[in-house]
Amino acid sequence: MITFPDAFKKFKSRLELNEKEQTNASKRQKEVRDHLDKAFQIDRSFLTGSYARWTKSKPLKDVDIFFVLGKSEAHYRDKHPEQILSAFHRALADQYGENAVKKQSRSVGVNFGVVVDTEDNTDYRVVSVDAVPALVNGGDYEIPDNVTGKWMGTNPEIHAKKAVEAHQAYGNEWKGLVRMVKYWNQNSRHGEKPIKPSFLIEVMAMQCLHGGWGGSHDRELQAFFATLRDRIHEDWPDPAGLGSPVSDRMDGAMIVRAQNVLDQANRDIATAINLARSGKNIEALKAWRSFFGPKFPLS
Ligand SMILES: Nc1ncnc2c1ncn2[C@@H]1O[C@H](COP(=O)(O)OP(=O)(O)OP(=O)(O)O)[C@@H](O)[C@H]1O
Ligand SMILES: [Mg+2]
Repeated sequence: MITFPDAFKKFKSRLELNEKEQTNASKRQKEVRDHLDKAFQIDRSFLTGSYARWTKSKPLKDVDIFFVLGKSEAHYRDKHPEQILSAFHRALADQYGENAVKKQSRSVGVNFGVVVDTEDNTDYRVVSVDAVPALVNGGDYEIPDNVTGKWMGTNPEIHAKKAVEAHQAYGNEWKGLVRMVKYWNQNSRHGEKPIKPSFLIEVMAMQCLHGGWGGSHDRELQAFFATLRDRIHEDWPDPAGLGSPVSDRMDGAMIVRAQNVLDQANRDIATAINLARSGKNIEALKAWRSFFGPKFPLS
């Protein structure tokens, strides 16, 4: 039988990017760029967001790609964000078809029609990407935000630096743990994700996973879920101090629902830990698997 440390180790590595996935992501980045180049002056593009920070969960959905617009597109900055998002949408729908392309509040999603199997595997392929139009603003970027109707400041380098600092302060286990909690958040048994956006989990983890790595995943998860429950109602600003609060999508009703789901999560964790403590190891592994989803190993 697999030991608990090994089960968590295996789970962690299953949520890690592998080479094949990175090759596929780069291929998609180039392909989308080639399409957008026909309609826009694009200076450069890069894979970013949780994908680039190593905090993306599986399956690989909504991988963020920034498309940095050149001088000829600077006029969009004086227009409502809707304009550039609609223009990106048009250009991408021409290539991929209306059904595969979705205009979102800060990006345009492109779905590649990849099937996700019951074990959450995709044969190492990226399911979808979010194409984000971006303008350079000094050392930062501005991206369209159709919810506020304004361009929003952001800085992926600062987010990446903060994630690395948190990771190192936490015995290099921080990113693995963030991926696990994001995987829990998207477990289909919740229906809707209880915490939105999932970047909020990472932002909370930057402040809440302190005091160093204690040595065991179960206890660290127990402590983090307790804090998530206690502090999900708070305001969580952009760690780079540029964008809108990361918690601004959590309205009153969503907070109450998240608190209830997190209460249940805390009970589930206590049950799994107690099962293991009383020697019921197979039951404990099953409890963790049902808690997280199919990527948690039973053997
Ligand atoms: N409110 C915000 N202010 C500033 N920057 C933000 C804000 N929300 C998101 N970002 C930046 O945009 C990136 C992409 O946002 P997104 O919501 O896709 O998060 P993510 O970290 O990539 O998580 P996921 O794994 O769900 O894709 C974030 O990683 C972060 O760098
Ligand atoms: Mg993302």
